[in-house]
Formats: sequence, C-alpha cells, structure tokens
Amino acid sequence: MLTFDMSLAGRWIGEKEMERMAPAAQAALAALLAGEGPGSDFLGWVSWPDAYDRDEFDRILRTAETIRRNSDFLVVVGIGGSYLGARAAIDLLTHSQRASLPRERRDGPLVVYAGHNLSPAWHAELLDLLETGEVSVNVISKSGTTTEPAAAFRILKAYMERRYGREGARSRIFATTDAARGALRTLADAEGYETFRIPDDIGGRFSVLTAVGLLPIAAAGIDIGEILRGASDARAALADPDFGRNPALRYAAARNCLLRKGYGVEILANYDPALHSVTEWWKQLFGESEGKDGRGLFPAGVDFSTDLHSMGQYIQDGRRFLFETVLQVETSRRSLSIPDDPGSLDGLDFLAGRDLEEVNRKALQGTALAHVDGDVPNLAVRVPALTPYWFGWMVYFFEMACGVSGHLLGVNPFDQPGVEAYKRNMFALLGKPGFEREREALEARMAGEGN
Ligand code: PA5
Repeated sequence: MLTFDMSLAGRWIGEKEMERMAPAAQAALAALLAGEGPGSDFLGWVSWPDAYDRDEFDRILRTAETIRRNSDFLVVVGIGGSYLGARAAIDLLTHSQRASLPRERRDGPLVVYAGHNLSPAWHAELLDLLETGEVSVNVISKSGTTTEPAAAFRILKAYMERRYGREGARSRIFATTDAARGALRTLADAEGYETFRIPDDIGGRFSVLTAVGLLPIAAAGIDIGEILRGASDARAALADPDFGRNPALRYAAARNCLLRKGYGVEILANYDPALHSVTEWWKQLFGESEGKDGRGLFPAGVDFSTDLHSMGQYIQDGRRFLFETVLQVETSRRSLSIPDDPGSLDGLDFLAGRDLEEVNRKALQGTALAHVDGDVPNLAVRVPALTPYWFGWMVYFFEMACGVSGHLLGVNPFDQPGVEAYKRNMFALLGKPGFEREREALEARMAGEGN
C-alpha cells in the first residue's frame, strides 16, 4: 500500500494535534463519499475507478491500437487538467529517453503536446517535427472554448487537412469533450470525428482516469486496465474512516496543521526525473483546488538531486515558511552499479560496485535530515514501485487527499473561478466582440501604469 510518513515532522506536529484534526477530516471524507459538501456536482471521480463506462474503455483500447499502428506521433492538444495527467503517466511509465530513441525502439508513437501555451515558435516547431512521421491528434477540452487548445487545434486541424485531406484527417483526429455541450462537441459532430466523453461531474484536474488521460496513455503503450485496478484498490482502502490507517486523511490533516503554523508553501520533492510531470500534475491539482478565497497552500515542486544545486540552498537556508513532502518510490525500475576505476582521483572508490539507487536513497535520507535541521518540516509519501497499478493508486490518493484538504481549508476544491480573470483581460485586449468597455479600461490602465 502507498504510505504516508510524518516521523520527521514530529517537532512541528504532535499526534494530539493530528487527532484534533481527525473529526473534521473524517467528516470531509464522509461528505465526499456521500456526494455532499461544496462542489458536490463534481464528485464523479470518487466512484469512477469502479463505475467507468466499460464500452468506452474498450473503444479507447481499440483506438489506441489504431494510433499505435498508424502513427509516429500522437499530438495531445489540451491545457491544465486536459493534458497534465496523461503527461504525468507517460513520463513516469515509459522510457525516459523515448523522444531520442529510434522509432523501432520506442514501442509506439511519441506523444507530444500542444495547446498548453501560446508560443508561436513552440507550435511552428512542433509542425516541423510532425513532418518527420505519421500523425494522429487527440484534442481534449471539456468546455471546448479554452483559448490555448482551441487556437492550437485550429492550426493542427488545418495542418492535418492539408497533409491527409479532409477525409484522411477525420480518421486521424479524436476529440475528448463533453458528451452533449460545447464548441468542441459541436465541431467534432459536424466533422465526424470519433469522440470520447468527459463526464459532466468530473472536473479537468480530476479527469486523468477518464478518456482524457486514458486514450493518450494507452496510445503510449501503458496498461490502462492496471491503472484503473490500482485506483479501484485505492478507492477501497481510502474509504476507511479510521484516521490512523487512512494515509489520505493523515496527509490532508498534516499539511493543514503546518499551514496553520505559518508554513504556507508545500514543496513536493522527487528523486527521479520520471516523477517531474507527476509533480506538475500535483501542483495543478492542489493549486487550482485550494488556492482561493485568500486561502490555501502554495504548491511548489523540485526535482532532486538536480535542484539541490539550485533551490537546495534556499530550502536549507532561506526564509522559513516552507515544508517538504518527499514523493518517494521504494523500488527503482532499473539498477546500475558504479564501476570500479582503480587510481581514479574522484575519491569515489568506496562506492565502486554499489548501485546508483543506493546513492540516490542516501541522498534522499541525508537531505531530509539536513532540511529538518534547517527547520523545514518533512513529510513523505511512499509509493512501492513505478508501475501502472501504483500510478492509479497514487492518483486516487492525491485526489482524495486534495478533496479532504480543501474541506479542511473551508474552500470548494472543485471550482476554479480565479482562472477566468486573465481570460477576460486577454479577450478584451485582443478585441473580442462584447469586451469593448473592458478593453478601453485596461488600455487606460496600462498607459497610466507606464506599461
Ligand atoms: O482543472 C481544470 O478544470 C482546468 O485545469 C481545466 O482542465 C483547464 O482549464 C482546461 O479546460 P478545458 O478542458 O475546458 O479546455
């Protein structure tokens, strides 16, 4: 089972304090399981690992097989919750150097991403890359109106039609969107694209276990049945109201205890680059769920030991408002020993014959203790292995912990009203019809503020 360990945080959080938090955490869990509480219209993710649509799951597998057979690239067009989960799984569970491996050693298409930024260079250069192989596109948007993916999809649709013809493009474009509503649904129906459904009651950042994540993940050759099996086992384990036994309750409670003591930034630290995109997914999950109404922890991420040589200095020695949660994998998926090199001047003879994993583990332990000495409370989430099963388990764990934690904070963890502010300004400044007054006001402000 995935475990949560706070033995290095005893100086900051006592068990009594945790127990005081227990009733509220248990009430939050009960509300989530009963489909109640703030944002209760968006609790479809709670039962999804068992309630998912089997027919759609089979269609995802068939479509993924087609993409694997006929494509060198799958372009996933989406932003936020519409691509971060798939990227997390794919980066975690496929070869770390897959982008540079020759096609025959890659096991399926390279999944590439578009529509998560507005850089013309990024998108133009992506088109350059696509010229080197066969392409399929999976456009993913629940609302269908998000500017970044909508603009990127215009570019990619035009590219695909130019390259494959309208009919050919139609058989290579797949849309994942709302079952009945929205601009992408209307477009997909009009064009005759094969579509997959984003359930009404599952928000973007909780959607990785739906077709949003599963189609690209399956196209990358990952066993999505195992992911759902892991999530289903997590669902059973994390429905346990026993505060001492349920790691999601304890993690949610511990981070809230620390927040109340002024530790307003949580850093998720990993010791394997494969976890980098999991960290990005986690940042979105917690940042968008909790950061509202003037509340919430700021979720940050570091990749160790890389970042021990950059952010490590600040964490050890800078302003004290940080705590660290180490996302630790208990077994490495490969081993590699350090060779003997008699006469070498690097002073590392004592490591000859030892596995790099042992060195990494000691770096983790040594860093955690050093950070505790530097007044950085340390928590740990331990995942047994980097497998599809444990990916599914971990996803569900963080989703449940996030739901409980949002309740403890007193916010609705399932909305994101703050995301609208920049969009309105951007539309106004771009001259979207209906935004004329905002545009005038913004331009006056920019002139006044010297921008
Ligand atoms: O978690 C969320 O709801 C957001 O991050 C959305 O996923 C993101 O804004 C993309 O929205 P959409 O899928 O509607 O394009």
